[in-house]
Amino acid sequence: MAEQVAILVTEATASDVCFVHVLDESRQRLVLMGATPPFNSLSGTVELKLGEGVAGWVALNAEAAVVPDKWQDERYLYIPALRGEDYESLVSVPLLGRGQHVVGVINVHARQPRRYGEHDVALLTHVGNLMARTIENARLYERLAEREQTLERFAARTVDAQEMERRHLAGEIHDGISQRLISLWYHLQAAEAFAADSAVVTHELGAAKDLTSAALDEARRAIAGLRPSVLDDLGLGPSLESLAHTVSGADVDVDVEPCRLPAHVEVALYRIAQEALQNVMKHAAADRVTVRLSMTGGAVHLVVEDDGRGFRPRDTNRNRNGDPSYGLVGMQERAELVGARLQVTSTVGSGTRVQVDLPAPRSRTRSTTRAE
Ligand SMILES: Nc1ncnc2c1ncn2[C@@H]1O[C@H](COP(=O)(O)OP(=O)(O)O)[C@@H](O)[C@H]1O
Ligand SMILES: [Mg+2]
Repeated sequence: MAEQVAILVTEATASDVCFVHVLDESRQRLVLMGATPPFNSLSGTVELKLGEGVAGWVALNAEAAVVPDKWQDERYLYIPALRGEDYESLVSVPLLGRGQHVVGVINVHARQPRRYGEHDVALLTHVGNLMARTIENARLYERLAEREQTLERFAARTVDAQEMERRHLAGEIHDGISQRLISLWYHLQAAEAFAADSAVVTHELGAAKDLTSAALDEARRAIAGLRPSVLDDLGLGPSLESLAHTVSGADVDVDVEPCRLPAHVEVALYRIAQEALQNVMKHAAADRVTVRLSMTGGAVHLVVEDDGRGFRPRDTNRNRNGDPSYGLVGMQERAELVGARLQVTSTVGSGTRVQVDLPAPRSRTRSTTRAE
């Protein structure tokens, strides 16, 4: 599209060449995305820093620039690949999207010296705005499609996980709580049968009491595994601390800053930490684990790091038994669903680091409003 627009605009303004630069916001760079032939072949290969050259100035100031003699203009930057020596004059207009947000820049050049007029600027501004909208919509569409895929995968995984959890819970209730209740019943029955012999009754009732408290402990553990109630009561930091206390086989360092986040975000971070710590216990053979929750200017960072045996993150869609493993994938999906980024870095022999970065609320809100 950029190339076609470039050709049209060149004709409509009676110019010789047109370049369309699109802003890559994360890198603060303008990237050449389209141009009139033969420069179209350079798409994606020419970049300007924000503020660099006339286009960089226009992007930074969100304002058009008319340059009758570029050799006299200190903003001009010579880029050999774009053959600046062949052209004298130019006009550069920002591509403004929603909220006058700079999406890119369109530049039109002429071989012969000329001063581009208001009419040209108005035409370019108009075309530029249409292009900006199109670019924004394409990006939005891409993001939505990604999000939808994540959601679909997550839904499927949630159903699987639910089934697994239920099976696990059924097993736990069957092996633990039910077995103990059955023996409890036998002890009570024995006490009843020997009601005349107080020594036997005392012994049986003692055993029954022990069983009752063991069954109670087991029930509590099963419930705690289902729903981290500390999260509701105390928030993420203390919940991570109490989670860290459940780690066995390695020393744990916990360093958490107090912060309260939306409930679904806290649950996501808690579950990610839980899986990461379970992985440390199951796979890492580590001496030391660190759990860190920190904030920088509203952004939240969670790190779980161990000094264990490490692994190659790429070969982990299956675990050692050849069964599909959803732990890491699930962590990734949970992070994406709350708009966070998860990185797992691991080196065989020197440990594993799981890091989740949640952007500051301002951009969080912005990305939600954009997605609407
Ligand atoms: N902290 C860790 N240290 C060493 N190996 C790990 C660690 N975390 C994950 N792994 C490796 O990655 C694989 C995939 O992990 P995961 O997706 O959680 O599945 P699972 O824990 O069910 O095996 C594990 O089987 C293990 O080989
Ligand atoms: Mg796991």
